[in-house]
Amino acid sequence: MSQFDRRKFLITGAAILGASAVAGGVGWWYRARHMPSTAMEPGAHAAGEFPNPLRLPGSSGVLGVLDVSAPVTIVAKSVQHAIYERKSAPLLVYEVEQDGNYWLNPVLRMRSGATFRARLSNALDESTIIHWHGLKVDGKNDAHPSFAIAAGATYDYEFQVPNRAGTYWYHPHPHKLTSKQAYLGLASLFIVEDGEALALQKALDLKLGVTDIPIVIQDKKFDDQGRLVYAPSDEEKVNGYVGDTVLVNLTPRPYFNAATRLYRFRILNGSNARTYRLAFTRGGFQLVYAVIGADGGLLDRSYHTKEAFLAPGERLDVLLDLSGASVGDAVMLQSLAFDPMHAEGSMAGMAMGAGAKDQKGEAPSPHAGMAMGGEPSGAQTPHGAMLADGAAIDLMRINVTSKMAYEPRVPAVLSTLPPVKAADARPREFLLDLKDGRWRINGETFEMKETPVTVQRGAKEIWEIRNDKASMPHPMHLHGVPFRVLARSGSPQQVAPGVVNEQGLTATDLGWKDTVLLWPGETVRLAVDFSHPYPGDQVYLFHCHNLEHEDQGMMINIKVQA
Ligand code: C2O
Ligand code: CU
Ligand code: CU
Repeated sequence: MSQFDRRKFLITGAAILGASAVAGGVGWWYRARHMPSTAMEPGAHAAGEFPNPLRLPGSSGVLGVLDVSAPVTIVAKSVQHAIYERKSAPLLVYEVEQDGNYWLNPVLRMRSGATFRARLSNALDESTIIHWHGLKVDGKNDAHPSFAIAAGATYDYEFQVPNRAGTYWYHPHPHKLTSKQAYLGLASLFIVEDGEALALQKALDLKLGVTDIPIVIQDKKFDDQGRLVYAPSDEEKVNGYVGDTVLVNLTPRPYFNAATRLYRFRILNGSNARTYRLAFTRGGFQLVYAVIGADGGLLDRSYHTKEAFLAPGERLDVLLDLSGASVGDAVMLQSLAFDPMHAEGSMAGMAMGAGAKDQKGEAPSPHAGMAMGGEPSGAQTPHGAMLADGAAIDLMRINVTSKMAYEPRVPAVLSTLPPVKAADARPREFLLDLKDGRWRINGETFEMKETPVTVQRGAKEIWEIRNDKASMPHPMHLHGVPFRVLARSGSPQQVAPGVVNEQGLTATDLGWKDTVLLWPGETVRLAVDFSHPYPGDQVYLFHCHNLEHEDQGMMINIKVQA
């Protein structure tokens, strides 16, 4: 089947019903069961409900693209900025000034192999540090929380960017402050380019910010003055903090005007705790889209799917072909409803002394309300609206507004990935569980100076991570050492529609990864290669990228011994 056949777009609805009726049926069953009463049928949205133009990376300003060739100074500070209902309010940003131009949370862009030099200047009123998520750097540049600097201090980074092309990102990492600072605004993308990536840009006639669109998805809560509210309760520290307003590129209810051609969307889930089940829909039908990359750059080829889960910290690089669409068509980027699988058991609620009042009948956890037919619980705004974890969300409306001829075809081969050699690898096991209201990794919670895991430099290991049954989803992230996902087992039924191979992997698991989602009861096997060129011992982190979990200590040091 040719994904980019011009007729394809028009027949997608029929193809879904024919070729994969079961998968489609499951999807719609979830939607029907779990759609909050406030949500409308997909596609039924009037354009007026998406009144805000999607913020696109320009050449400066908020999310402006900054080609880093010379050293930069990045100031972490609070500015006034209107995000919500045009109300100017404090936002934490990374600011860069160059030749009188200002970038706020710049999309940093580098060539693979080039040297990155940056000074972080901390103009916040508390400690901070920047971590370059997904980059293969030494411990000092990776910026373990022990390197956090005080208010007013500076920290210098200098490293060669060894990564292949990909969509990486950066955010704060001071212990116990990561979740708050990231939530209040500090986060953006770090795009690495190489020959392979540029060849694809050329073949598909893509341009960053025009037809190659970064999509940063973050759910937030605002107060009446348009200020971001970060105030997790004890229960929310266990479950994760979810917002009721979902922003794309810091834009609430955005629209994007498109032509009849192919678009690339580089999607980052920059939310603290919310996972999305990403689909493009038209008139209530899920469209097929092509996944071409994940955390660590391009896949070997494109993989067609109608949906993919994306957990906090993960990236998904997709192509959406609108060349068969007509002017006037609208496509929604949505998160389909799903069971958030908060299956902590009554332990979490009891341990925290909260949430018990939310439980109805046999609902096993405060957040299982929707799945078990009880009252949905979740983000509660000052106005009483809510957007439960796992709820259906309309993220962005894509309006087809202009016609153009578009001929390019997606190359059959996108990249060459080395085969995963796991034969002589040493196995290592991890268990994720909850005890006394705290999430743990092999029974451990974070201690700044302790290194529960020591690995020899150059070691090749198989990590088998098992998530307890009485648990919730945990996106596990390893610093400094990209890995490959080998297999998933014990996956919940709702993962099935997105599975692309016999190992149970979804498109989000392919290629090089730095973050992998584990559902309750699931076991995931990873191949990790601890070879690196840096002298001496390196201390990296392994943690859950649900940022409340991380700050509560679902994180351990991994020492790579020279
Ligand atoms: Cu994106 Cu340690 O994190
Ligand atoms: Cu990281
Ligand atoms: Cu977690």
